Amino acid sequence: MADNRMIGVCYYPEHWPETTWENDAARMAALGIDYVRIGEFAWSRLEPTRDDYRFDWLEHAIEILHSAGLKVILGTPTTTPPKWLVDEMPDILPVNQQGQVLGFGSRRHYCFSHEGFQAECVRIVTALAQRFGNHPGVVAWQIDNEYGCHDTARSWANASLSGFRRWLKDKYQTIDQLNKAWGNVFWSMEYVGFESVPLPAIAPTEMNPSHQLDFYRFSSDQIVAFNRRQTEILRALSPGRDLIHNFMGRTLTFDHFELGADLDVSSWDSYPLGFLEDRAGANTQHQRNFVRAGDPDFQAFHHDLYRATSAGRWWVMEQQPGPVNWADHNPVPRKGMIRLWTWEAFAHGAEVVSYFRWRQAPFAQEQMHAGLLRPDGVETEAFFEAKSVVEEMQRIETQTTGTADVALVLDYTSSWAWETQPQGREFDYFELIFDHYRALRRLGLSVDIVSADTEDLSKYRMVVIPGLFAWKPALLQALATYGGITIVGPRSGSKTEHFNIPDQLPPNLPRDLADIIVTQVESLRPDCPIGIRATQGQLKLWREFAVPGPDCHTLLESDDGVPVLLRQNRLHYLAGWPDDALFDSIFIDLADKAGLAVRSLPQGLRIRQNGNHLYVFNYGDSVADLEAHGIEGDFLLGQSQLPPSGVAVVDTGSNASD
Ligand code: GAL
Repeated sequence: MADNRMIGVCYYPEHWPETTWENDAARMAALGIDYVRIGEFAWSRLEPTRDDYRFDWLEHAIEILHSAGLKVILGTPTTTPPKWLVDEMPDILPVNQQGQVLGFGSRRHYCFSHEGFQAECVRIVTALAQRFGNHPGVVAWQIDNEYGCHDTARSWANASLSGFRRWLKDKYQTIDQLNKAWGNVFWSMEYVGFESVPLPAIAPTEMNPSHQLDFYRFSSDQIVAFNRRQTEILRALSPGRDLIHNFMGRTLTFDHFELGADLDVSSWDSYPLGFLEDRAGANTQHQRNFVRAGDPDFQAFHHDLYRATSAGRWWVMEQQPGPVNWADHNPVPRKGMIRLWTWEAFAHGAEVVSYFRWRQAPFAQEQMHAGLLRPDGVETEAFFEAKSVVEEMQRIETQTTGTADVALVLDYTSSWAWETQPQGREFDYFELIFDHYRALRRLGLSVDIVSADTEDLSKYRMVVIPGLFAWKPALLQALATYGGITIVGPRSGSKTEHFNIPDQLPPNLPRDLADIIVTQVESLRPDCPIGIRATQGQLKLWREFAVPGPDCHTLLESDDGVPVLLRQNRLHYLAGWPDDALFDSIFIDLADKAGLAVRSLPQGLRIRQNGNHLYVFNYGDSVADLEAHGIEGDFLLGQSQLPPSGVAVVDTGSNASD
């Protein structure tokens, strides 16, 4: 395991003359960098034509980095199959839902189901692992790069079609069982054999949701299996090295919990300004407020998510160092934000934060993307902010991330289910989960994200389960014995695994847990929210008509007299999608019942408890008065008047919520 808190950098020796490598390595080491990721796009240089392996340059680069005291994370180059390989096997190219082939000329141009390509990956990864697997400079492997990036998690290619049919046969055994599970009697959709099932691509109108959901499950399984083939090789040939993949922001197209189970470390690529406009999902005023800082909750959400996907060990593999090239608009970060983002990752338990990239490339697609150095080798602002983090880290004792007070259940299959059947244009699972997360963070609560297979909730004071489409037995079991405060819904338990409405109607919980049935739901226009009696706030986008049994109490009602929040013992059912004000009043009340102290934090101020340390981050653009928010203690870093981009680490003497 890595010592806690180190910094790293992504480096492309193949982009620069060999004569510059030594100087680069020396400058990295002088900056305080520990880890250097290399090689993940270098297939054409490692094997310029079939079987002509050219690994000497890579060995030289590894030697230079190693001699400078740097630890190498070696990438497997499977995200960029070279042109000769694509020419040999043109059908490895992925096909989009519209049937268009995504051609050569960028990256991620392969279909996960292509068996010939899988064999090519086995070959190149084996060759690399044989050569470098025991090299003392290589301490970790990054497998491939950003699965699912550029919308490539799903492919409608022929290889997918045959793979999907095999997957269905495995799952259903007989075509009758598939027809029954999917309800194919509807619209005469019955199949006579697995060989006649198509991919759900394009049809005159919506295709069967059970069919679509199974295709999404299959696509996720293909990625997990693709990754696993590489982990098996690397475990055998490169013992003791950490296996890592770099996940992304707001990417729910494959199950990161399942894939993460095969890794030692989950990492993700954090581009706070790049994500602000298209992924953080907030309104334009919010985007304007944080145009140079990034969304105050988006990074933290992913830190908490990826910490959960490989048993607690996680890194930021790529940290935005300045303007990127790929968002709609690419502003320069406000001074201090690169330092803040780095500290925030450490606050959430990251072992390593690695910047993308060492030096800005003067050529090709990413020539407008900043690095720690300019193309001419001169340091940028990011270089100096990374340096200040290194210096500060030496003064502050490491903490490990313990359990947070609140667990938020996130489930990838639920995301695919609601993508398949949103039932209202704006219904989006990520937005729903993220709204809950933001609301908890506004109150200063620290959150662990957990999977829907979680078996033990006992360490949490409060558990939040929004939009979980179908119950898993382990979670039901855990809920049955859980003594804390639970809040379930909306839409939780509203389907069976096969995407049908459950016999006993949603939320489909045992009556002794929740004697409630949801008899009807409605999606709402964003401009037609529903008011709530005797409290602030409204339901937006979604509401349900929940009928409580005799043991259930109605805690909140809509203006038109429909239950909004129900309680049976310590379990609460939320029959709609609250706006911010309603979330605040619900969570303040529930946190109180759970014995959790809450604060009311301004939009730009966020905190994270980690052991005895309370970390404070000012994403806002004015000075924050921390004392006014009850933040007191021994300031190890920063001060009570926290400037914009400021970071404070406060020793609270104990976990503040105890
Ligand atoms: C990431 C990717 C990197 C680089 C970077 C630019 O998505 O992994 O290779 O393209 O974005 O911001």
